[in-house]
Order: sequence, then C-alpha cells, then structure tokens
Amino acid sequence: MKKVLVLYYSQSGQLRSVVESFVSKIDSSSVKVDIKEIKPVLPYPYPWSFYEFFDEFPTAAHMDGCDVYELEDLEDDYDLIILGYTIWFLAPSTPIVGFMKSQQAKKLFKNRPVITLIACRDMWVMAQEKVKKLLKAVDAKLIDNVALSDQGKGIYSFATTPRWLLSGKKDAFWFFPPAGILQSDIDAASRFGERLNFALRNDLEKRGKPLLKNLGAVSVNGKLIASEVVATRSFYIWGKIIKFCGEKKSFPRKVAITVYAVFLALMVFTLVPINLIVRKIINTFQKEKLVELEKNMRNQVVDE
Ligand SMILES: Cc1cc2nc3c(=O)[nH]c(=O)nc-3n(C[C@H](O)[C@H](O)[C@H](O)COP(=O)(O)O)c2cc1C
Repeated sequence: MKKVLVLYYSQSGQLRSVVESFVSKIDSSSVKVDIKEIKPVLPYPYPWSFYEFFDEFPTAAHMDGCDVYELEDLEDDYDLIILGYTIWFLAPSTPIVGFMKSQQAKKLFKNRPVITLIACRDMWVMAQEKVKKLLKAVDAKLIDNVALSDQGKGIYSFATTPRWLLSGKKDAFWFFPPAGILQSDIDAASRFGERLNFALRNDLEKRGKPLLKNLGAVSVNGKLIASEVVATRSFYIWGKIIKFCGEKKSFPRKVAITVYAVFLALMVFTLVPINLIVRKIINTFQKEKLVELEKNMRNQVVDE
C-alpha cells in the first residue's frame, strides 16, 4: 500500500476544499492518504483587521515563520508528500514557513518526492521560488506543482480578495465577481489525484519527473512576473523598515504600517493602471516578441 501525506494551512477553508477535491479520486484501496493541517501556536485572525493584516507583512516578506504544533500520528516513510500552501505577500504563508523550518519537516521531507499545491489570488511565482529553497534545505525532491488562482483575474481581485480577507465577505458586488477560486476549478482539482493513481501504481513518483503533465496544473501569467520581481524587492525593503520601527502591535510600527499602506494604495491605483495601459500599447506593436518572451519565462518557471 502506498502512503501519501498531504499538508496544508488554510484560514477560510478554501485551500482545504482544494486539498479535499485533489485527493477525492485517489483509490483508497491501494493508497493510504493522511491529511494533516498545520496549526500555528498563536492562531492567525480571519477575517483580518487592517492593522493585523499589514502587521504580518514584514514577517511574511522576510519568511521568519512562526511556531507551529508538531504533527501527530504520522507514518515514517511516505511515498509522496503534497504540500498545500497559500501565498502571503508574495511568499508562502507564515505557518507553512514555520513548519518547513521545523525539525519535524527535516525528518519528514528528507529524500521524499513532493508536489506543491497552491491556492492564491494570482501571484505565486516568486513564492514558489522561495518554497523551492525551503524544500532544498530539507533535502526534498520537488517533482510537480499545481496552482489555482482566484476568479475575476487581475484587476478585479485587487479589490475582491482584500475585501474578502478583511471582512470575510466573498460574494459578488457592484460589477465585481465573487472573491476566491471558482467552485468549478476547485471541483476539477480531483483530476490530479486521479492521475496519481496510475503514477503511484507504477512507481512513477520515484523517477523524480513531473506526474501531472498536460492536465493544466499551472498557468503562468507572464505579464505578472516583472511586477512580482519588483514587488518582492519592495516588500523586502519595506519589511525591514517596518521591523526597524518596532515590535508587532507597537505604536511606531502602526505609524510605519499606515505610511506603507498609503504607499501601496497609491501604487495600486496609479502604477498598476498605467502599467496596464503601457503594456497594451507595447503589446500591439511587439506582439510576437512578447509571446516568445512569455513562452521562455513559462518554461523557466515550470520546468526547473
Ligand atoms: C496576509 C495575506 C497576504 C496575501 N498575499 C497574497 C499575495 O501576495 N498573492 C496572492 O496571490 N494571494 C495573496 N493572499 C491570498 C491567499 O493566498 C489566499 O488566496 C487566501 O488567503 C485564502 O486562503 P485560505 O485557504 O487560507 O483561506 C494573501 C492572503 C493573506 C491572508
């Protein structure tokens, strides 16, 4: 009997639904699936208040992690580990970082094939690069990646996702679609587990090659990569400044967070639309060149 471990941390339950759908068609007569939720010692709020949300930003951007409870009732030697994570400020969520830095992760992941499973708004490329480093540090072998992102891509989810995270409201409003991943996309994640049946039966996970090819496991938005690179650098610097201003919840840090939030809002409401317009203009003149560039980027990100 093959053994698969699925790890995740989810606040609203969205990633949990993705995980449940993913494993729903795994054949339980030949594969034992253990699903374990990572639990931070100090639970995170959901929905978040404005200051709690931005207070988390330096920790997430600098990948400091947090203390998490040790997982119980685990097997010693899993054939495959599926690491489900969400993105916080272009990095893996803090509880996931905390777990990956734990002694338990070192033992559990050593020489194990891993599939990462991301559920986020739509900016996950830089976070996945960071997860690759965390996996390397525990000697795990990343063999594949699945990434699901929110409906109403790009500009709409700049409004719908923060509204959801700060109020808990996911419904459609005005001309905006509902927040979060489409239910049909979540349901369709079962195709990945279904594919694993064949792979595990034939020991394909041991070859260190991707198992989920041609299933639409990831779609990289090439246009977002440049923004992610710039934003990651900016997050790192601003994270340092905010940390320097004081401990979490302190008054000077609140002042720094307010300044940063205003800066971020200005960026989103000015640079993002300007960027979109400029890109549209460039697109019309350099369409073929851009398609080629995007194709190269996609290969780099997915095939590494
Ligand atoms: C503090 C915080 C920061 C986030 N930053 C990002 C981000 O940079 N990129 C992104 O695509 N999604 C981001 N999200 C959205 C999450 O990745 C995820 O879609 C959402 O929190 C729902 O996940 P859940 O299953 O934990 O409820 C962020 C969420 C939180 C709470």
